[in-house]
Amino acid sequence: MEWGLQNRLSRIIQPSTGRTVMLAVDHGYFLGPTTGLENPRRTITPLLPYADSIMLTRGVLRTSVDPDKNIPVILRVSGGTSILKELSNEVITTSIQEAIRLNVAAVTCSIFVGGEYEKQSLANLAKLVDEATPYGIPVLAVTAVGKEMARDARYLSLSCRIAAELGAHFVKTYFCEEFEKVVGSCPVSVVIAGGKKTPEKEALQLAYNSVTQGAVGVDMGRNIFQSEDPVAMIQAVRAIVHQKATVDQAFDLFQTKKSKR
Ligand code: R5P
Repeated sequence: MEWGLQNRLSRIIQPSTGRTVMLAVDHGYFLGPTTGLENPRRTITPLLPYADSIMLTRGVLRTSVDPDKNIPVILRVSGGTSILKELSNEVITTSIQEAIRLNVAAVTCSIFVGGEYEKQSLANLAKLVDEATPYGIPVLAVTAVGKEMARDARYLSLSCRIAAELGAHFVKTYFCEEFEKVVGSCPVSVVIAGGKKTPEKEALQLAYNSVTQGAVGVDMGRNIFQSEDPVAMIQAVRAIVHQKATVDQAFDLFQTKKSKR
């Protein structure tokens, strides 16, 4: 792999553990001011010391993260839709020049396999790979799942494999039964999304299951920033991802950190 691309990837997936805790705060690009992200700066700032990277749009990056924080940025460059319309109808919203100007570690877009605009979203990914790779910028493909799709190993394997075949350097997907099959048939690294907010211990179990079944880490949003104590929660997630903590150990850590704040 080319040096610059490898260098950027190693800022995201930590060479010391081979794993990563990515903080996803890009939800506003189609959800608007979702719970917990009404004021992005207030939510993001205390979490930065515990995240290996942050996934967000250029608008929130510019307004809500100070450039001297030096956190690796995964820039969300697809969008153009809202929850009021067909979500799969995405286009690329941010140029590669802008990504370079913002000194990003990677760019990311969603694909909607089986969705109404499947072809358009896959073309977005392929074009993004063509545009980003010459500058050594890795591309993260997010396998979005429409309401009508089953989040099972068969469907997620299909989506992840297509993302990798089109040139994505790593893929973000959902955890599912037989998750090893998804990871085993995807030739690039896989991270998992946290999904809707669940009780903290369940979210920690999800992180544990994912990394013990082959994911290189998590790209978690709502289960961190909607937690009753986001700073305690991200530290508990880190313990699982980087320190091989059990779910019980991580949950104890969450409760200890929470009680001290
Ligand atoms: C969704 O398309 C966004 O990319 C989110 O970043 C993603 O869903 C991960 O966040 P969460 O853990 O809240 O599911």
